[in-house]
Amino acid sequence: MTFHLSWVSVIVGCISAPLVGTTSNSDLHLPLWKEIPVVSNLSDAYPPLWKDCPDQLSDYKKENGKYIINSWHYLERQGTYKVLLNATAKYFEKFAPENEQNILWGLPIFHGWQYHTGRLADPTRKTDCGHKAGDSLCISVDSWWADLNFYLSAMPFLAAVDSGIMGIPSDKITLLPPYKDQMSFCFNVSSCRSSFPEAMKKWNEFYQHLKSDSSSFDDLLKSLWAAHVSSLEVVHKNFQNRLRYYSKQEADFGRNWALFADYLAPLLFPTTLVRTNEFQKGLPTRILLSSDPAPFISDFTVFQNSVLIAVNLLHIVHKYTGTLSFIVWKTLMMSKIARELFLEILEIVLHYFN
Ligand SMILES: *[C@@H]1O[C@H](CO)[C@@H](O)[C@H](O)[C@H]1NC(C)=O
Ligand SMILES: *[C@@H]1O[C@H](CO)[C@@H](O)[C@H](O)[C@H]1NC(C)=O
Ligand SMILES: *[C@@H]1O[C@H](CO)[C@@H](O)[C@H](O)[C@H]1NC(C)=O
Repeated sequence: MTFHLSWVSVIVGCISAPLVGTTSNSDLHLPLWKEIPVVSNLSDAYPPLWKDCPDQLSDYKKENGKYIINSWHYLERQGTYKVLLNATAKYFEKFAPENEQNILWGLPIFHGWQYHTGRLADPTRKTDCGHKAGDSLCISVDSWWADLNFYLSAMPFLAAVDSGIMGIPSDKITLLPPYKDQMSFCFNVSSCRSSFPEAMKKWNEFYQHLKSDSSSFDDLLKSLWAAHVSSLEVVHKNFQNRLRYYSKQEADFGRNWALFADYLAPLLFPTTLVRTNEFQKGLPTRILLSSDPAPFISDFTVFQNSVLIAVNLLHIVHKYTGTLSFIVWKTLMMSKIARELFLEILEIVLHYFN
């Protein structure tokens, strides 16, 4: 019944929107998807080991007046998200209780997925970093997924410090470097700003929007996704070579996934707690092996196999249209009506599989 209602609202929306006109949005401050799915206990949607992660900056080690954060340890990296979620909770109170509508949830939930599916582990197997039998909380610098996530954790976190959201001076945080390739990363606000000025600027803009009372939920999503894309641009350039450590299936999936994220951005997918958690259930529950007959893997759900097919198809379309598909998609998504329609469709798909 909910499906039918959603379709009715799509159709009614399409018919009535042109009549009402696009400028008369009286609901600018409300989330695009107003109806929050019923989850008996929100903490079921939290990432793995969330309760063991640091809650506040004072839970981290402090040396010479600076907090020292080991970004190569799952609890400490995930903890930076937890601190960030806590510090930004007050800006999302007006949308829903319990910080459920905080759009920063997307980041820790995907990081949690990377952790529990073994994607943060050393893919070369030269060390036991991140492997269940070894140092399971270790995050390997050789993991493509971990490097990708570094830019989506260090930058949002340090830019938050820089923008004053954390209430501490910007020189009070130091991230520990990995044991190699230090030049590809940055470890404090000033060095991140000089090495990756564009991405840091975009994250900073997101926090400025957050602090402004006049920002709508859509404005926040727009600036969040702009920052997300900007962080990923750095990764695309720097870490291509890591993919050779994986099976062809996994490397293809990683590449397709990154492309898919580029397409999700113009859609302004609302990365809130429950939605992202539902979405995450469609992702492969372990690293893909060369023996996996993707996309028909027997220990994956229909949803998970469908996601593999979908992201692969997207890659094929993108490749054969010479990125024209992306330009068309971006243009289409500039229309609020088209965007809401696609979000509704995605909503129906998520409901169907969950
Ligand atoms: C939700 O679940 C957590 C852990 O499973 C539990 O500690 C908490 O009391 C539960 N909250 C409610 C409101 O039931
Ligand atoms: C933020 O963290 C503090 C300290 O752990 C806690 O008391 C507070 O309830 C948290 N706030 C939110 C909104 O989660
Ligand atoms: C930031 O890191 C750079 C090199 O990574 C270092 O030279 C600089 O002193 C650090 N700045 C602060 C404020 O810690």
